[in-house]
Amino acid sequence: MKYSYKGMNIEIYESYDELSNKAAQIIAAQVILKPKSVLGLATGSTPERMYKYLVEMHSNLKLDFENITTFNLDEYLGITENNVQSYAYYMNQHLFNHININRDNINIPKGIVNDINGFCHQYDEKIASLGKIDLQVLGIGTNGHIGFNEPDVFFEAGTHLVKLDEGTIVANSRFFSSIDEVPKEAISIGIRNIMQSKKVILLASGKNKEEAVWEMIFGQVTPNLPASILQVHNDVTILLDKESGSKVKIELDKL
Ligand code: PGA
Repeated sequence: MKYSYKGMNIEIYESYDELSNKAAQIIAAQVILKPKSVLGLATGSTPERMYKYLVEMHSNLKLDFENITTFNLDEYLGITENNVQSYAYYMNQHLFNHININRDNINIPKGIVNDINGFCHQYDEKIASLGKIDLQVLGIGTNGHIGFNEPDVFFEAGTHLVKLDEGTIVANSRFFSSIDEVPKEAISIGIRNIMQSKKVILLASGKNKEEAVWEMIFGQVTPNLPASILQVHNDVTILLDKESGSKVKIELDKL
């Protein structure tokens, strides 16, 4: 089912598999239409199947990533890229090891860095030097975060150091053997970086995302629910499954 509300495209699919397939098709179209695209990429459970489809498109259909540049949203602070919990490791495992991307074109915030502010500035400068991100992929936290932009009293503009919310630490502890192992800080690109992207797709799956998705679409635009800023982006597609989309569907069907 496809809806348009306040300029946002909202698509609700029967299953996680279908929404993942659709997300992969959007990325593939971007890569085919502009082989030198700059992609903004996300980690977490939600995009895993989307990456699986992209890897399949690369091996079966020769989808060509050779001239693509990528910027990941975020990385935990204090862990190396060889640590299985790092987002660098995740990206290698789910995508980069299986496609023909040029390693020099991969950008992921560093988990181990001496001069954090200097690094954040460089990351922003590098994005700016390539123009804009052509297509930014996002997930959403149960607290409405995008990247690791946690609920706050203001929107952080550029790449920055983040103190992770207790809720995020609890949610992400499922990937660690104990909650004490979850890093408490991260580096994340900012809301300006995301809002300057030419096109955004946001993926959400599962009942636990239902409230955050509803607030993102129908709530006030507020840094207290960072994803709500997407209401004022001019090219956003929100891909939901039945579970994450059930509350918004009730509202959208009334319009
Ligand atoms: P998830 O994380 O895909 O693992 O649910 C999404 C997010 O926290 O942004």
